[in-house]
Order: sequence, then C-alpha cells, then structure tokens
Amino acid sequence: MTRIFDDDLQAGFGTRAIHAGQRPDPLSGAIMTPVYLTSTYVQDGVGRHKGYEYARSRNPTREALERNVAALEGARHGFAFASGMACVDSLMKLFKSGDHIVCGENVYGGTFRLFDRLLRHLGLRFTYVDTRDPARIADACVPGTVAVVVETPTNPLMRLTDLGAAAAAAHQAGALLLVDNTFATPFFQRPFDHGADIVFHSTTKYLNGHSDMIGGIALLRDDALAERLGFIQNAAGAVPGPLDCWLALRGTKTLHLRMPRHDENGRRVAAWLAQRLGDEHVIYPGLASHPQHELACRQMSGFGGMITLDLGSAERAHRLLERTRIFSLAESLGGVESLISHPASMTHASVPATRRAELGITDGLVRLSCGVEEIGDLLGDLDQATNGL
Ligand SMILES: Cc1ncc(COP(=O)(O)O)c(C=O)c1O
Repeated sequence: MTRIFDDDLQAGFGTRAIHAGQRPDPLSGAIMTPVYLTSTYVQDGVGRHKGYEYARSRNPTREALERNVAALEGARHGFAFASGMACVDSLMKLFKSGDHIVCGENVYGGTFRLFDRLLRHLGLRFTYVDTRDPARIADACVPGTVAVVVETPTNPLMRLTDLGAAAAAAHQAGALLLVDNTFATPFFQRPFDHGADIVFHSTTKYLNGHSDMIGGIALLRDDALAERLGFIQNAAGAVPGPLDCWLALRGTKTLHLRMPRHDENGRRVAAWLAQRLGDEHVIYPGLASHPQHELACRQMSGFGGMITLDLGSAERAHRLLERTRIFSLAESLGGVESLISHPASMTHASVPATRRAELGITDGLVRLSCGVEEIGDLLGDLDQATNGL
C-alpha cells in the first residue's frame, strides 16, 4: 500500500502538485519520475529484493501518482486504478453481500449502471436518494448500512451535497462517507476537511486534464481501511499501466494553474449564457440563481468549468450540439479543450429513460465542459451557435 511522504504535506498546493510523491530517480537523478515499463523485478536471492516483486503489486511510477494525489487531497494513502469505474468497483469490494449502501440519485450514469446492473446481483443493496437534503440520507440508513456514496456537484444536474451534513448522517449510522470529487478536484473542494472517509476521482478528467488517458484513484486517511483497499487493489488487479500513471502525473503538475482558468471561463460563459438564454436555462453553482449557490460558496473555493443548459427540447439541444465549433461534441470533461455533450444520449444513456425523467435528465439538457481557451473565442463560438436557436 502506498503511503505519502509526510514532509510533502508541509508544502503549499502548487508545490505539492509539482513535487509531492516524486523524488529524483535513485539511478540517474532524473528529475521526472521514469515510466517503469516492467512487469517484474529481478531479485538478489530468494526472498531478497528491493521491495518490488511484481508490477501488479507495486510500480514506482504508479506509486508516485498515488502519493502525489493523496498529498493534494490531504490524505495519507492513494490507490490508482485502470479507470474511474475500476476504482468504484474496487471500492465496493470493501463490502460484502447483504451490505446496504445509500447512494446519491444523480451520480454519474456509469456508477449507477455498475451498482444497478452488476453489484446488485452480487448481493449489495442500494438505496438512491436526493442527497441535497441530508435528512434523506439519515432516513435511508438502516441496520446494515455500510456506506454513503455522493458526488458533488453532480453530473449533469450540478446538484450539491452538504458534505459535513452527509458525513454526520453516515457516521451516525456507523457508515463510511465516500465522495466522488471528480468535478471539483482538490483544488476547489476538500472532502476530508468535511469528514469524508474515502475520496475518489476519475483521473481521466481534471487531474490528468489533457484527455489522453483513462484512470481512477482513491484516497484514504485511515491506515486500516487503506490496508484493506491495498489488498483489493493487488488481489483484484484493476491497476493502471505505468504510462497512464505518468500522463496523469504530468497533468497534476499544472492542476493549480489550469483550475483557476477553467473557473474563470466557466463563470464568464455561465453569466453570458444566462443573459442570452435566461437564468432559468443555465445551471451553474457559481450563478446566484443556482438554488444551492450559498452552499457552493461555503463548501467550494471555486466553481469550475462545468455548466448544464436546459434548452427545453431535444430539437433545440441538437441544434446547439451540432453548431458549436470550438466546443467539440464528445463525451468526457475536464480537459484543456472545451467539450459539449448531450447527457441523455451520451453520459447518462445507461440510466433507464423512466429514471432519467424522474431525475430531470431531459432530452433538452446540454452539458458544457469549459476548457482553458481564450474566453473571447469561447463566447464567440456560443454566440454564433445560439443565434436564433
Ligand atoms: C463524476 C464521474 N465519476 C466517475 C466517472 C467514471 O470514470 P472513468 O470514465 O474514468 O471510468 C466519470 C466519467 O465520466 C465521472 O464523470
């Protein structure tokens, strides 16, 4: 199991982003962590090795990434996985058949699909609730509840969960609080400070930030829980390759430079769209019109680049999706480039239509991931695309 270097926690965020978890290569002094493309390690004698036996169990490039993101989240341990979904799947292996989990009703569609179509059949029990109201979390907890899983802000409805209240409700029931911090990143939101037990990410998104790999990571403070997840990581083996770890690690080095620009562009684009289309059509926690704006200001230090538009009909949504030029039509988010997508048919297609309707994920929703391009060009693109929409 990978534990942070304690002295990394003394540095500020930007210094941690660049240096945490990484020490000059002992062989050459290379300042950048090498990509250890190896499956195994030669041993000096039977049972005599340098701490590395087989690369599913340990890989120095992976360990550097795990230590780096753990330090950014203010955790003690990090475990990297082959994708965000592989991470969630491995986290669920902390539990056993019959255990009960309370889950936010508007989590990423793939998380819902994993729970509802696979893990439910293995005996885990799930209750989905609107976690905007912490009382609903408490009400849903029953004897046998082992975990509460939330995502805040949610994908794509940008709903927030009060993390302190969610932690209190989970802990009151003797359950763990697991937080998907993919949208906000540790730069804008620190779930451990509010009582979270496990924080996880799709590193595919903002942490990597360049849309050139798929990965996931879980961060923990508790040593005993980390020991169990370390066992699962090795036993189930959903580990990332070293090159993907290296790409994610290259990404985190500029997280503190990219996030303010995503945030600035997000705020400017949201304000501009609210003026063009009307407040009621733009869902962004940074707008005063967002029903949880006050919580967003209290819990997050920035709002990021994710904006959802409610255009009222599939026809209007499709027109916008096909007209933008800089905002490219594609799934995913969090990269330097701006993307536009249609949640109902893309990221949330795995959620049954009736359930999408109950949640409010209508065919008229469009999701924007604002990149770090020049704001004038982004607004120009949206101007031509919304003209006469
Ligand atoms: C909030 C959130 N969590 C988890 C995931 C899953 O991550 P991955 O695609 O890396 O498996 C995604 C993917 O879009 C996501 O948006």
